[in-house]
Amino acid sequence: MKTLAEKILAAHRVSGELKAGMPIEIKIDQTLTQDATGTMAYLQFEAMGCEQVKTECSLSYVDHNTLQNGFENADDHEYLRTVADRYGIIYSRPGNGICHQVHLERFDKPGKTLLGSDSHTPTAGAMGMIAIGAGGLDVACAMAGMPFALTMPKIVNIRLKNRLPHGVGAKDIILKVLSLLSVKGGVGKIFEYTGDGILDLSVPERSTICNMGAELGATTSLFPSDENTHEFLIKQGRGEDFTELKADPDAVYDEVLEIDCAALKPLVACPHSPDLVKPVEELAGLKVNQVAIGSCTNSSLTDLLEVARILKGKTVHPDVSLVISFGSKQVLRMLSRCGALDDLIAAGARLLEATCGPCIGMGQSPKTEGVSLRTFNRNFYGRSGTMSAGIYLVSPATAAASAIAGVVCSAETIDYVKPEMPEAYLIDDSMLLKPSCDPQREILRGPNIKPYPAKEPLAERIDKLVMIKVGDNITTDHIMPAGAKILPYRSNIEKISEFCYSQIEPEFHDRCLKHGGGWILAGENYGQGSSREHAALAPMYLKIQAVIAKSYARIHRQNLINAGILPLVFEDPQDYERIEAMDRLEVNCEALAEGQPLTITDASQGFTFNVDHHCTAREIEILKAGGLLNRIRRQNQR
Ligand code: F3S
Repeated sequence: MKTLAEKILAAHRVSGELKAGMPIEIKIDQTLTQDATGTMAYLQFEAMGCEQVKTECSLSYVDHNTLQNGFENADDHEYLRTVADRYGIIYSRPGNGICHQVHLERFDKPGKTLLGSDSHTPTAGAMGMIAIGAGGLDVACAMAGMPFALTMPKIVNIRLKNRLPHGVGAKDIILKVLSLLSVKGGVGKIFEYTGDGILDLSVPERSTICNMGAELGATTSLFPSDENTHEFLIKQGRGEDFTELKADPDAVYDEVLEIDCAALKPLVACPHSPDLVKPVEELAGLKVNQVAIGSCTNSSLTDLLEVARILKGKTVHPDVSLVISFGSKQVLRMLSRCGALDDLIAAGARLLEATCGPCIGMGQSPKTEGVSLRTFNRNFYGRSGTMSAGIYLVSPATAAASAIAGVVCSAETIDYVKPEMPEAYLIDDSMLLKPSCDPQREILRGPNIKPYPAKEPLAERIDKLVMIKVGDNITTDHIMPAGAKILPYRSNIEKISEFCYSQIEPEFHDRCLKHGGGWILAGENYGQGSSREHAALAPMYLKIQAVIAKSYARIHRQNLINAGILPLVFEDPQDYERIEAMDRLEVNCEALAEGQPLTITDASQGFTFNVDHHCTAREIEILKAGGLLNRIRRQNQR
């Protein structure tokens, strides 16, 4: 009576008990990195002194930062290409596509585990995998053959009933789940989808749902591996990768949620959070300035064929800029071959590269106070590059219909036939470079490639000032913004730290340097959003010793530990109100022990309060060593 998640985890268990809340370690079969997190992951991997990666398959994708306005990105790509070649990693060249879409097409395999240094790695759950997003250092450790440690999540069953109506898509299903559960609703959980409603969902549609499980804060999401999975793999020329996988009929779940797909309406997530969901009809008539279609959520062939069918023979509204980025070279070539690309161009769409593009702020920022409808997964404040713009998340069908109308509207009344999977996908792996694994291979390092910064072991005592006090739901975009100006410094922590908290507290960097670092105070769900390790590495460089929050997003908490920063939790959340920025807080770190709270003194105001840390024995060792890399080096020296 096992769930599918339990079956895959049991097959990969290295240690621990598969009981919700218990620490477990699992073997990782595959890894992926993207360029924004990958340079640091490979620098960390190199620092471990391994001869070659030890996974079944490891990929390095270049999809985030592909603009070449200066030497930095080009140098980073050369580093990524040569380090991959040296250590046995397949390198996906810029232009080959977005990591999750390419991985789905060419590498995802039912029953396997995947660890990726990108928060949307769970996209691969569409193929019946346990796919988890993590920081770059955790991925580097998996490449070195180490198991991945996590707390066993609760397993939630989402039962989908009935067929989706015309004009309503997979995106609307996951927006519905977000509206019900919120951006914190998936923390510590795996979402397993079942029910007759999944039979009508193709693997790419399932990937849209698993992708935005990340916005729920979930550890991962997954679907069974069934007939639809088999069909997709055969059409990708990978029929031999198929295995049938499903939960036992009497599997017991921690929670169950039922959704009637037939009752769903087109939905939209409003600024500035993916869970601020409303029916499209409530926003009908709102003028739209920009429509952006693409991203790892909605850029599959069938997504873009649906857009092309809605746009065919029509013209984009004169007040709207429609930009389209393609999920992969495969998608782009197939659209080109079948003529749908011409339909998009004829309608007035502007075509971008097969990369993340506007999703990570690489151009196409909306106008001041603009309304931008996007098929993406995130609409956090400022992520688009225009602080005053409002980003609305919708399905490809709603995006296309609104691009024609010039106002928010659904595709429910537009007469078109929803595209099906093609007879066969076009296989072209020419931009996937196989590694030579030559130990003599020279690894090219431009001047922007700087080593991983050194960190001291945990001090016996922290006696420092609070450098910043922030509220609830602070994202990694708030802590370490992305965009075309900042991302080129992803392999240069000293430089990138200048931008840490720059959008909400421009003095933060200089204040930390002046006072030798200190504390960060935060509210609920601290560090939600991307897996960006730099949101922990930049504070580490600025000598932040500890964060005290009401709660954390999973990946960021792990990244803090890996960076040697204490992730503390208020025992009484009311204490958050009592402490001010620039208060002096003192704690005895020698008292750090499993299951034991720590007592902190606010020396500025003269009171004490307790904090928990929820750290396992392994995590405490990492913190005491001054981070995971220090701990690995220490172990290697023994
Ligand atoms: Fe890229 Fe945006 Fe996905 S940055 S990996 S398309 S969330």
